[in-house]
Amino acid sequence: MHTLAFYNLKGGVGKTAAAVNLAWCAAQDGLTTCLWDLDPQGAASWYLRDTTGLEVKAKKLLKGKNALENQVRATELPGLDLIPADTTYRHLDLLFEQSDKPREILAKLVSPLADRYHLLVLDCPPSFSRLSENVFALSDAVAVPLIPTPLSIRAFSQVSEFLQQKQLDRGQLFPFFSMVDKRRMLHRQWLEAPPAELPNLLSAYVPYASAVEQMGQHQSPVNQFAAHSPAAAAYQALWEELRVYLRLV
Ligand SMILES: Nc1ncnc2c1ncn2[C@@H]1O[C@H](COP(=O)(O)OP(=O)(O)OP(=O)(O)O)[C@@H](O)[C@H]1O
Ligand SMILES: [Mg+2]
Repeated sequence: MHTLAFYNLKGGVGKTAAAVNLAWCAAQDGLTTCLWDLDPQGAASWYLRDTTGLEVKAKKLLKGKNALENQVRATELPGLDLIPADTTYRHLDLLFEQSDKPREILAKLVSPLADRYHLLVLDCPPSFSRLSENVFALSDAVAVPLIPTPLSIRAFSQVSEFLQQKQLDRGQLFPFFSMVDKRRMLHRQWLEAPPAELPNLLSAYVPYASAVEQMGQHQSPVNQFAAHSPAAAAYQALWEELRVYLRLV
């Protein structure tokens, strides 16, 4: 099983939209895929029409052997399962604090999923925490959506420094531009000549698109209701790039 996380310290940059759409692309490619909604806001769970919520408290999750596996729900989309969000996730951080091997916790939790899935997609909340450290340690690739602004570069550098401080591999970070509006000069300039501070920048980018905004109304990945939209094509292109990095070809 490969693990692909969507992360940025900044909120509202398109992490969840990308996580849901790329998980859909992976499932369409015939890869059994599970999306774990790690954000208590539960936006990914909402997009995937979850009505149940997570039934187990974080503490139990860490104690029971197959506790996480039991929380997997099938979605209406073939090949795509979901572990829904729950507000008890704030307890996860506390448990990480208490453990003497905090980095192994998430890996241990997800290990029973390894036989069932080709790909685990993690949709992360926008913060630095033990949870994010665990996510970085576990993931094969961390995709980082960035709106093309100088502040986004700063946020990316902070993430990169955080990994360095924690002696984690910064080469697993894959930034990509999100909410690109070609009417804006800086957006056009950065597409042409990306800033040097963004190593591994993916060449595909997500345009600012009403189809993405409409995901909330449709509670679906973009491809389900706007298959021929530029946004659907963009997510597909992103997935194809990441798929190569993940060696899922
Ligand atoms: N490419 C896009 N074009 C237009 N709107 C977008 C795009 N991507 C995301 N949005 C909208 O912006 C808002 C934030 O997107 P999303 O929830 O994916 O971001 P996020 O980074 O996961 O946010 P959070 O940090 O709160 O988890 C949503 O209302 C979403 O519909
Ligand atoms: Mg989100």
